[in-house]
Amino acid sequence: MSSKKTILCIGAGYVGGPTMAMIALKNPDYKVTVVDINADRINAWNSDNLPIYEPNLLDVVKKVRGKNLFFSTDVTLGIKDSYIIFVSVNTPTKNFGHGAGYAADLQFWEKTARQILHSSDENKIIIEKSTLPVRTAEAMESILNFNEKGISFDVLSNPEFLAEGTAIKDLENPDRVLIGSRETESGRRAREEIVKIYSSWVSEEQILTSNVWSTELSKLTANAFLAQRISSINSISAICEKTEADVDEVARAVGTDSRIGAKFLKASVGFGGSCFKKDILNLVYLSRHYGLSEVGDYWESVVKMNEYQEKRFVLNMLKEMFNTISGKRIAIFGFAFKADTGDIRESPAIYIVKTLLEEMANVVITDPQAINNAKIELGETLDDKVSYCTDPYEAANNAHAIAILTEWDIYKKLDYKAILQTMQKPAFIFDGRNILNHKELFKLGYNVTPIGKPSLRHF
Ligand code: UDX
Ligand code: ADP
Repeated sequence: MSSKKTILCIGAGYVGGPTMAMIALKNPDYKVTVVDINADRINAWNSDNLPIYEPNLLDVVKKVRGKNLFFSTDVTLGIKDSYIIFVSVNTPTKNFGHGAGYAADLQFWEKTARQILHSSDENKIIIEKSTLPVRTAEAMESILNFNEKGISFDVLSNPEFLAEGTAIKDLENPDRVLIGSRETESGRRAREEIVKIYSSWVSEEQILTSNVWSTELSKLTANAFLAQRISSINSISAICEKTEADVDEVARAVGTDSRIGAKFLKASVGFGGSCFKKDILNLVYLSRHYGLSEVGDYWESVVKMNEYQEKRFVLNMLKEMFNTISGKRIAIFGFAFKADTGDIRESPAIYIVKTLLEEMANVVITDPQAINNAKIELGETLDDKVSYCTDPYEAANNAHAIAILTEWDIYKKLDYKAILQTMQKPAFIFDGRNILNHKELFKLGYNVTPIGKPSLRHF
């Protein structure tokens, strides 16, 4: 019989990898194994060149790897040997059939459920860690518990709230940990097992327990609220650009209201990442499924506003550059969806670069971590029109414009005076993250277009 102190995580991605590393670090008496069908990913987790870039992650992994944290491709053995199984496989938006474009594609999930059943010969606790539509746990429970093996499974939901780029900090110091279970005796017992794991470093008041469906819905709701704040301030940025108000000033004034709060009010070129859009569309699908079309429309507008913001940004570039960018070299500073990650999923940079290419621009992309992912994403587009380089100075050389799309710290500290000398004139900067000193840049000679503030032009 497997010891109760054995944990498996199926799926070694952005969520599974860092979360299990932290659980292993804080629970030296548990054996934690992370499995994935992707052998390259597992090999990378077993090397010093981890498959994802995340500040301080390697330090944590190195402390526990080979001691009580193991990475493997043997999913069957992992399932057999573990009592507690976290499932953290990908759940993209469906791109076919019923619910296409909105509903979650649960094929990886269902496959995992069947695999767990196939390889288990004793009772286990299964925890959904991926963000999933409400009632997915119930479906999983049905697949698992209708078996002829005489074994039973408790299916819990324990959504992860970490944000990329700050994963280790968020895991070490979470605002809360949420664990949902059935209110049966066995459900409550299973929940206690999971509470025990987290309570080795998270205080009791921060561990919230609830039923499975509230837990699943809470995760979707948290992401929807966060994204809604960004779309709200971005909608105001459009008004600011017309009225000479300054969106950062507005956000500051609004954010000091303690009922509103200052976080997630940074106007930008748009939100990206694997969660926000997917989770909102899930919520939209769920609402419409239950006949709540007004609710669905309400949340869908958050995504539409984000698309509008991305589109507005490119149109502004075009307008400022005399309505033609054909043949002009444009340097893209940052391709990742946010700073401190190499992840480009749903990054606004994807839409912006593709649109610039349609306008026949020559695009050169620089990013400290995301160049490889950018190459994969843009692989099939007009190759001779896109190039990549790690050095931002080289990217800007001979360019007509720089567009800042990711708020990497290094872009705040560049020598823009030296850069200007190497650029075509008139030189433009489009600051899609409002991270630069616009007045200074203008004084140097640039034409500057921020988000939600008037453009500074020399003509
Ligand atoms: C998000 C949630 O924050 C996290 O709790 C959940 O577990 C997963 O989804 P993540 O997508 O990794 O995390 O990053 P986040 O920091 O939320 O940023 C998402 C996007 O919003 C980024 O593109 C970021 O640049 C953008 N953003 C964020 C803004 O444009 N303005 C802001 O004020 C904040
Ligand atoms: P997230 O950002 O939610 O962590 P990722 O896409 O980074 O998502 O990671 C999900 C991981 O799950 C991928 O590495 C993928 O190979 C893995 N995966 C998907 N299906 C299975 C499966 N049936 N068994 C094991 N791993 C799986």
